[in-house]
Amino acid sequence: MPPVPSPRGRAHLDVLSLAGDDIHGAVAALHREYGPAFAFGFGPIRFSWFVGREAARTILHEERDAFSQQGGYDFLKPVGGATALINSDEPEHMVRRRVVQPAFHGRELASWLARAEAELGPWFDHLADSGDVVDFYRGLRPRLVRVVASIVLGDAPLASDEAWLQDVDALMDFPGRPMLEQQWKVPLPGTPWARFVAARRRVDRALYAEIERRRTQPADAPQDVLDMLIRPREDSEGTGRGMADVELRDQSLSLISAGFDTTSAALSWVVAMAFEHPEAWARVREELRAGDVVAAQRALYTDAFVKETLRLRPPAAAALRRTVRPIRIAGFDVPAGVRVALSILETHRDPGVFDEPLAFRPERFADGSVDPFAYVPFGYGARHCIGAATSTALVKTALWVLATRFTLEQGRPGPFRPVGMTLHPEGGLPVRLHHV
Ligand code: HEM
Repeated sequence: MPPVPSPRGRAHLDVLSLAGDDIHGAVAALHREYGPAFAFGFGPIRFSWFVGREAARTILHEERDAFSQQGGYDFLKPVGGATALINSDEPEHMVRRRVVQPAFHGRELASWLARAEAELGPWFDHLADSGDVVDFYRGLRPRLVRVVASIVLGDAPLASDEAWLQDVDALMDFPGRPMLEQQWKVPLPGTPWARFVAARRRVDRALYAEIERRRTQPADAPQDVLDMLIRPREDSEGTGRGMADVELRDQSLSLISAGFDTTSAALSWVVAMAFEHPEAWARVREELRAGDVVAAQRALYTDAFVKETLRLRPPAAAALRRTVRPIRIAGFDVPAGVRVALSILETHRDPGVFDEPLAFRPERFADGSVDPFAYVPFGYGARHCIGAATSTALVKTALWVLATRFTLEQGRPGPFRPVGMTLHPEGGLPVRLHHV
C-alpha cells in the first residue's frame, strides 16, 4: 500500500505559506489535488491529513487503539492541562470520562438554559437599544464564558468574577494562534506567551482556592459540575472515584474553555447562515415564534438548520491524533509516531454522501437519518463531545430569543470566510439588532 503523498520542494513551500494564513484553504486545495490523504508541515506541526467517512470510521472508532491524543492536541495542554479529557489516553481517559459524563446528563439542562437566556437576552436588548453594528462573535464570547462557567461552577462567586472570566476568555487566544506562532513560547515581558502565562497563573490561583473551599465546606447535595466531579456518584461499574486537585482544575478549565469557544463559533455561524439564507431563516423564525423555549428544543426545521450549519461550518474543523502503531487509513500505510488530522470540514463536503455538498439545505436532515461517519461535528463514540447536547440546546435557546424578540440586520456583506483552529468568521460577524 502506498505511503501518504506530500507536496515537495517549491510546492510544499507554497502550501506552507497558504496554510499560515488559511489552514483549511490549504487542506481543501490538497484534498482536490491528492484525494483523501496528504501530508504537509514540518517538525511538530507536520500532520498527515485524512478526509472522508472511511478515514473517520478508522480514526474515531474501529482502530481507536492505534492512536494517542499526545502530539495531536498538545496545543490545548497549556490551557486545559495534561489530564483534560481531550489530552488523556486510555485507560485514564475512560476513568475520567466516567466521572465527567454524568454531570452532563441533562438533569440541570433547564436551569442552564435559563442562565443562557438571562445572560443573552439583556445583551441583545442592549444591542437593539443602541442601534449599533457590533461584532456578534466577539461580543458573544465573554457572555458564553459566563454561561459555561456558571454551568461548571454554579453560583460560586468565581463564576461571576469579571476579572477572572476575562482571564479565562483570554487564555484561548494563545491556542487560537497559527500553529507555527505557537511554537515560540518566549517568556519575555509583553509577548503573547508571557501574557498567557500570567493570565493562567491568576486563573489557577482562584480555581484552586475554589476547589479547596469546596473540599473543606462540601455542599449537602451537588449543585454544579465541579461538585459532581469532587464527589462523583458510584456508578454501576463502581468507578466513581474522586479526582485529585489537578484533575479537578484541568477538567473545570478545559470544560469552560472548550465549551464557550466552540459554542460562540457555532451560534455565530447559525446567524451568518441566517443572513446568507433568508428564506430558510424565515422558516426557522416562524417555527420558533409558534412555541416557547422548551418547544424550540424539539423544533424540527430549526434542528435541521443548526445541523446543516454545523455541516458546512463545523467549529471543531479537525480531530487530531498521533499513531502509536502502524495502521492503514483510507488505503494508505501510516507508520507509528505520525501526527494525524481528520478534516471534519472536508469530510462534511463529500459529494458521494451529500448531494450538492456546498449548498445550504437544512432539508437534507429532515428525516433525521445521517451517516454517523460522514457527519461528525461532535466526533464519535468513546470520544464523542461531552457537551454536544448542552451546546446544541444553548444555541437553540439563543435562536429562540433572537427569533421571538428581534430582527437581524447584516452589518457588512458576506459571505464570511471560515478561519482558525476553532472555525470562526474571519474578522468577526458584524450585526445590528432591532426590537420586533
Ligand atoms: C458547538 C459546540 C461544540 C462542538 C462543535 C464540539 C466539538 C467536539 C468534537 C468534534 C470533539 C471530539 C474531538 C476528537 O475526537 O478529537 C469534542 C470533544 C469534547 N468536547 Fe466538544 N464541542 C462543542 C461544545 C462543547 C461543550 C459545550 C463542552 C463542555 C462544556 C465540550 C466538551 C468537550 C470535551 C470534554 C471533549 C473531549 C471528550 C473526550 O475526549 O472524551 N464541547 N467536541
